[in-house]
Amino acid sequence: MINILAIESSCDDTSAAVIMDGIVRSNITSTQLEHSSYGGVVPELASRQHLNKILEVTEAALITAGLSLDNLSALAVTKGPGLLGSLLVGISFVKGLSIALGLPIIEVHHMHAHLMSLFATDPRPDFPLICLTVSGGHTQLIIMRDYDHVELIGETIDDAAGEAFDKTAKMLGLSYPGGPLIDKLAKDGKPIFKFPYPDAGKYNFSFSGLKTSILYFLRDQTKINPDFIALNLNDICASIQHAITEILISKISLLVKETGIKNIAIVGGVSANSSLRSKLFKLADLLGAKAYIPSLDLCTDNAGMVGIAAYYKYKNGNFSNLYLTPDPRWKL
Ligand code: KG4
Ligand code: ZN
Repeated sequence: MINILAIESSCDDTSAAVIMDGIVRSNITSTQLEHSSYGGVVPELASRQHLNKILEVTEAALITAGLSLDNLSALAVTKGPGLLGSLLVGISFVKGLSIALGLPIIEVHHMHAHLMSLFATDPRPDFPLICLTVSGGHTQLIIMRDYDHVELIGETIDDAAGEAFDKTAKMLGLSYPGGPLIDKLAKDGKPIFKFPYPDAGKYNFSFSGLKTSILYFLRDQTKINPDFIALNLNDICASIQHAITEILISKISLLVKETGIKNIAIVGGVSANSSLRSKLFKLADLLGAKAYIPSLDLCTDNAGMVGIAAYYKYKNGNFSNLYLTPDPRWKL
């Protein structure tokens, strides 16, 4: 049996998971709430919180999986991209365990881990697969030809989709991360306010123009009525969510039509968005494609996806060593 202990600490979630023969047996994540009033992640606070939580989540992951350290086959950790100090906590922790237990280390790319979250549960997608990776730091349109054969087709030229949610939420006075709050408030609203969709080229994305047009719209409306945001919060959220999800879905649709690939997926924190999830299934129906989305606990940052990515690397004998260092800007 291949038993992997995986650690994820690239941003503001401290997570540990146990993967046994490619199945996630435990996936324990501690999300840092310390950043909520700052409108974004404060790197120094994040590293300190990882230090406080890493042992706790690891013990919980082992206990939940019913596994002791003696029964592990390998250790997996996110090498990047992410915050340097945060990555360093996970990597140093794993190096310590590796020396103490004599176990090999498997380094994992955070965005590859998001893609591999699709292979944690049934039904597992077939290849080739069109996948949109949407998180707080990335928006990438990808064709996966195999577990380790990934082609980048397009990406954002400015803000990521998650950032677009978080930054516009901040304009509305909502706390960080704003994406889940916009999703919740949008449920009682209608997308009655229209914003222009920026054109970033065929398969690239741009959200900064949308962000600016929302900013000007709110500024103009609150000049007329200072209570505009409070009075229209649900409709504003529904309109922002509509704009962002339409931009995302339109690129998947175009790529399906152009390539004929009939497997489509979304992964990453923003794939937890209820409107994006339902639009992907509708698009699949329309195009006769199959849609795949990870369960909610595997969408936002978690070590389960890191362990799944590591499992396939383990089978290929793809190990790292104690010279491993974080790579905050590691390209996919
Ligand atoms: O993948 P993730 O957990 O961390 C990064 O690697 O960035 O993604 C976090 C992002 C945040 O921007 C957050 O607002 C967004 O995912 N997010 C959502 C939802 N849940 C998380 N955005 C929209 N709707 C949601 N339900
Ligand atoms: Zn992520």
